[in-house]
Amino acid sequence: MRKLCLVLTILNYPELFVWPQASDAPQASDSLTYAPCDTSIGTHGVVGSYSCTQKTVFSVREKEEAKAFHFNFHFIAMSLAAVRQRRSQPSDPSLSEPYTKVDKPKKSEEKEEQGLGWFLPFLGLGLLRYMSATSNIIHDCDEVFNYWEPLHFLLYKTGFQTWEYSSQFALRSYLYLLFHEIVGRPASWLFSEDKVRVFYAVRFFLGLISVLADTVLVVALSRKYGKRLATYALAMLCLTSGCFFASTSFLPSSFSMYAISLASGLFLLDRPAAAIAVAVIGVILGWPFSILAFLPLTLYSLYRRFKPAFIAGAVTSVILLALSIVTDFYYYGRWTSSVVNLLIYNVAGGGESHLYGTEGPLYYLKNGFNNFNVCFVLALLFLGILPIAKKKYAPDLLIVMSPLYIWLGFMSLQPHKEERFLYPIYPLICVAASAVIESFPDLFRSKYNTYDNSIIVTAAKILRPVILSLILYASHARTFSLIHGYSAPIEVYKILEHHDAENGSVLCVGSEWHRFPSSFFVPDYVGQVRWIDDGFRGLLPFPFNSTLGGTASAPPYFNNKNMASAEQYLHDVDACTFLVELELKRPYLIRGSNLSTWEPIAALPYLDRELSPAFYRSFFIPYLWQEKNVFGMYKLFKRIPK
Ligand SMILES: *[C@@H]1O[C@H](CO)[C@@H](O)[C@H](O)[C@H]1NC(C)=O
Ligand SMILES: *[C@@H]1O[C@H](CO)[C@@H](O)[C@H](O)[C@H]1NC(C)=O
Ligand SMILES: *[C@@H]1O[C@H](CO)[C@@H](O)[C@H](O)[C@H]1NC(C)=O
Repeated sequence: MRKLCLVLTILNYPELFVWPQASDAPQASDSLTYAPCDTSIGTHGVVGSYSCTQKTVFSVREKEEAKAFHFNFHFIAMSLAAVRQRRSQPSDPSLSEPYTKVDKPKKSEEKEEQGLGWFLPFLGLGLLRYMSATSNIIHDCDEVFNYWEPLHFLLYKTGFQTWEYSSQFALRSYLYLLFHEIVGRPASWLFSEDKVRVFYAVRFFLGLISVLADTVLVVALSRKYGKRLATYALAMLCLTSGCFFASTSFLPSSFSMYAISLASGLFLLDRPAAAIAVAVIGVILGWPFSILAFLPLTLYSLYRRFKPAFIAGAVTSVILLALSIVTDFYYYGRWTSSVVNLLIYNVAGGGESHLYGTEGPLYYLKNGFNNFNVCFVLALLFLGILPIAKKKYAPDLLIVMSPLYIWLGFMSLQPHKEERFLYPIYPLICVAASAVIESFPDLFRSKYNTYDNSIIVTAAKILRPVILSLILYASHARTFSLIHGYSAPIEVYKILEHHDAENGSVLCVGSEWHRFPSSFFVPDYVGQVRWIDDGFRGLLPFPFNSTLGGTASAPPYFNNKNMASAEQYLHDVDACTFLVELELKRPYLIRGSNLSTWEPIAALPYLDRELSPAFYRSFFIPYLWQEKNVFGMYKLFKRIPK
């Protein structure tokens, strides 16, 4: 009945589904660095009047959208909270009694009845992942150049190749790309003219996998630890910015994240063999490095039920490795294993990843706080509540949560750090924080009187929804700020599709190359996308060259030292038909400011993270966000015919 209410409420609010079509901007968010992609913001400047008009338009329209968006997000958070409160009112037996193995069977029966079913998690996650798929920005240029571009090449025979895809190095798995082609290929037949839709079709697919994996996790939590903990986890999985953005990114670390959710869920549902099989898929098909995060669960499953678990793990490994090697052979044109190559590159070879930037040991803590705010702090406290909640959570939940610490510790020791490296443990952060919030009252209960209802225990109970609301509100404020601050690049490139120019036009991108949203946004009439020199001296991607062998080529211009190649830039800017530039309020001139050569055909505001105060750019606060932050203009120019 209550479920029905929620559905009806949502149907009564159709605007829920009108998510502002923000798109991807490579958000150099507060915490993000473009390690391999850093460019000096070279020759950039200011143009007066044009940006003024645009800004006015922006402030009126965007404010309206902002309000709508704000309302929608808020409404969902409230709905979830309301459902949670109503549903958890009948006092949950698991809370007032110590959890013992003896009464387990009876409990699970009870919970089957009143625990969370499949429907609510599926609906909630489905809604939020849909929003994520349509509004997510591209956070990392690796997502574009190492995954979207090769996928584009598989589908359309054009696209950029990075040195990692040179058959000389063969560091990336084609099996992973093929898995996305399952959706990309039919979508490309269906929307033959419109590659942007293919892009979003693949994103919906990613969102769907995430929904399925997280639903299993939430249901498992509900059956084992009660619906209160499960509902907290559900709310956080839906709304924390980390999960919101990671869930629809086309990255192997996101894939490993889905696998962690699913494997943890299956493990808690007492399916160790299935959990191990999923872990293997996460490692071999997704990100080989994430093997470390799956280790505790795998070892414990083997310990608990060795034979079925071992067989499931071994069979899945052999099949997937064989598939992966055959696929790599087919595409790279030689016998090699990208899985092994990547491990060797990072571990045995000492890794030269430091070439792409290094960060201090606290980087991930800061990042975790940015993406999960208080939720992250609570998650880290999980070990702290164990002495009190040991009966309830050890060993199973402890095993499931242990990668949180192992992964954070291990990754913090690596010199090269990227926000996406933390993705695999994102769901665990939500679950650990839920367990901590749920245990608040237990912290104050006397050991011998579990029915203690003193004022302080009651206060701790009240604190739970308060903290949860705080987390959800802060998360929403950040999500909203990122989406609206940094979605300009995707939106600007989308305009190309509605434009006409002669076949074989050249689209030129300078220092903004690392925010290029992928060839899916470049219509057919544009013959080439070329980089122009704005001072970046690292190695840039080159188009796949079929003459040299396509995916099997090992072009001479690639190296693994991140050294610029002589041919990577187009030197004759006069050959450009279109030009993309970011215009910031700095005393540099941009090329597009020569209005006798370039005519602006699109311009959208882009948050200037250097000039905006950290607090206001990180969290969206209505009105103040637009007022206190500084915006540049993301612009697309077309050459004026002579
Ligand atoms: C551009 O190429 C497409 C496909 O090859 C063709 O249908 C179209 O007529 C061409 N347009 C011009 C202006 O040449
Ligand atoms: C591909 O490589 C060949 C041989 O080096 C070269 O002549 C050709 O211009 C390249 N094609 C593209 C599209 O770069
Ligand atoms: C603007 O472009 C025109 C045509 O290319 C050129 O003649 C002129 O010198 C440029 N002006 C500036 C200020 O660079």
